[in-house]
Amino acid sequence: MARGLFVTGTGTEVGKTVVAATIARALASEGQRVAVFKPAVTGLDEGVETDHELLRRASGSGQSDEEIAPYRYGPPASPHLAAAMAGEEIDPERLRRAAGAAAADADVTVCEGVGGLLVPLSPGYLVRDLAADLGHPLVVVASPGLGTINHTLLTVEAARAAGLEVAAIVLNPWPDEPTEIEHNNRETIANLASLPVLTLPRIDLTDPDTWPPLTLTGRFPSI
Ligand SMILES: Nc1ncnc2c1ncn2[C@@H]1O[C@H](COP(=O)(O)OP(=O)(O)O)[C@@H](O)[C@H]1O
Ligand SMILES: [Mg+2]
Repeated sequence: MARGLFVTGTGTEVGKTVVAATIARALASEGQRVAVFKPAVTGLDEGVETDHELLRRASGSGQSDEEIAPYRYGPPASPHLAAAMAGEEIDPERLRRAAGAAAADADVTVCEGVGGLLVPLSPGYLVRDLAADLGHPLVVVASPGLGTINHTLLTVEAARAAGLEVAAIVLNPWPDEPTEIEHNNRETIANLASLPVLTLPRIDLTDPDTWPPLTLTGRFPSI
């Protein structure tokens, strides 16, 4: 089995790309050849650095846009809808082939999902189905504050219900001065999910040299 991990989250905008980029950067700093993969990118119309661009910059990978993210759409919609608006449907087999091709030239692959685990890529194929097909352990990104216990545990339960292994939770962005609520959220999630709960502070995205080494190596044999 190829080495890699699949970064998912409790939803959109929780920091999946930033966490995946930080992990990719840490692996690359260890001297590993890192491939990155993102099944579908939406919201290209918004004119900011896209997920696949940040993942490529962080990992030092020479992959093309197409090799990182086979499906790319302008509107900031769910991938199944963005594809339909473009008059097509995302093909699971094409995703599996593209992920395999990305992994072929690398020591380890960092995949980022889209939205959360139950987001459809096509009407009958969810992000969770792709995660299962790729076979990598999951990293679940969640926010540190109020509401996160429920969202995080629901995501872990949805993963485990499909037989997926969760490697760790990452609470992001972890505040410089966490309150009792954030400390307790971290401890409660760790206890109820029986998982390591890591944290990532706010980072300067323009300067990867300053990013903390968010490393899972050694902790999980498949990573
Ligand atoms: N640790 C962090 N440091 C700095 N900015 C962050 C951090 N986490 C998230 N952000 C910012 O918050 C927004 C959402 O993060 P992103 O990684 O794109 O979320 P997702 O991939 O889950 O949709 C982005 O603008 C991103 O730059
Ligand atoms: Mg993202």
